[in-house]
Amino acid sequence: MQSKVADDEGMATLQRTDNWFIRAGAGDWVNTSTAPGARAFHESLPGYAPTPLVSLPELAAELGVRAVLVKDESSRLGLPAFKVLGASWAIARVIAERTGASTDLSCLRRAAAGAGLRLVTATDGNHGRAVAHMASLLGVAATVFVPAVMTPVAADAIAAEGADVVRTEADYDSAVATAARFADEQPGRELVQDTAWDGYEQVPAWIVEGYDTMLEEVDEQLGAVPDLVAIPVGVGSLAEAVVAHYRRPGAPHPALLSVEPDTAACVLDSLAAGALVSVTTGATVMAGLNCGTVSTSAWPVLRDGCDAAVAVTDTAALQAVSDLGCLGVSSGPSGAATLAGVRAALATPDRRAALGIDGASTVVLLSTEGTRR
Ligand SMILES: Cc1ncc(COP(=O)(O)O)c(C=O)c1O
Repeated sequence: MQSKVADDEGMATLQRTDNWFIRAGAGDWVNTSTAPGARAFHESLPGYAPTPLVSLPELAAELGVRAVLVKDESSRLGLPAFKVLGASWAIARVIAERTGASTDLSCLRRAAAGAGLRLVTATDGNHGRAVAHMASLLGVAATVFVPAVMTPVAADAIAAEGADVVRTEADYDSAVATAARFADEQPGRELVQDTAWDGYEQVPAWIVEGYDTMLEEVDEQLGAVPDLVAIPVGVGSLAEAVVAHYRRPGAPHPALLSVEPDTAACVLDSLAAGALVSVTTGATVMAGLNCGTVSTSAWPVLRDGCDAAVAVTDTAALQAVSDLGCLGVSSGPSGAATLAGVRAALATPDRRAALGIDGASTVVLLSTEGTRR
C-alpha cells in the first residue's frame, strides 16, 4: 500500500513494508489536561448500563498471559456499538451551547424543539447511526452522508433511525468533506463529526470526552489498571480518549496498542513517519476502521502517548470474529480487530518484551461493536 507524507519539500511518497510499529517512552508521557467526562449525562439516558467486561481464559492461555478481558460494546444504549457514547455527549453539548439549556435530557428536548436544528455528519456506519438515534431521541432532524462502499444494510439501519441518508460517490474522507460543506450552507445545520481538522476541534473534543465513560467502566470492573489495552482505530478519536485516560498523572501507565486494517493504516503510517500521513483506502470488512486520515486533535496525543501500532488483514479480523463468537462474545470485524491485533503484537518474544507483557499480564481488548447482520 502506498501512503503520502508531507515534508519540507512538499508531498513525498513512502512505502510501508511492515505492519508493525513500536517505540519506547510512550508510557512516560503524562496527559495533564483535565477534560470533564460525560458519565453523569450517560447515566441519565434511557437504558444506560455499563457494558460487560468478559474474562476469556481460553484466550489468556492462547496468548500466554494471566487474563484477557473483552469490553463488549455489542449493546450500548440501544445500539450495537460504542459510538453513541461520543455522539450523545457532543449533541447534548451542541444543543446546550446553541440554546443555553442545561444538558438535562428533558431540558435538551424542550430547547431543541424550537431551535430549528439539523444535525449533519458523515459516517462509515456506527457514528452516523448514533447521531441519527440521538437526533430522534431529542426530536431534531439529521442528515447523514455515507461513502460509496457502505452496505445497503448499514445505510438502511441509519435511515431506520429517521435520518436522511445521502450516499456519496467517494470514500469516507470525501464524505466528511461533503458533510462539512453541507453543514456550512445554512446556520441551522450543525456538523457533529467524530474527527477533527484545523478549525474544527470543539465537537470532536466532546465526542472524545464521551468515550471516556467506557474506560471509567473498565477501571471499575477490573479494579486495577491493565497491562495492555488494544484499541480499534479509524480516525483515532477513540484512541485519543484511551491514551488521554491511561496517561493521567499518578496512575499506572499500561501499554497501548492501536489496531487498524492493513488497507487503512493511517495511524501506523503516521507513527512510523513521525508526521501526519493520509492513506488511500479501499474496501475492508472492518468498515468502522476504514478511514484514511487521522484526526488532527488525536494525532499529537497518539504520537506522544501510544506505544505501538499494528495493521491486520480482513482474514485475521474475520477469524477473530469467529473465535470470539465461539467464546460467546458478539463482536463485529471492527471490534474483533483488537484480538487479531493482539495476536500479532504478542507473536514474538521481541514484541512481548518491548510491550512489557509476560505470563502475569492482564490484557484488555476493546470490542467496540457487535456482530454485523
Ligand atoms: C466499531 C468501531 N470501532 C472503532 C472505531 C474507531 O473509532 P475512531 O474512528 O475514533 O478511531 C469505529 C469508528 O467508527 C467503530 O465504528
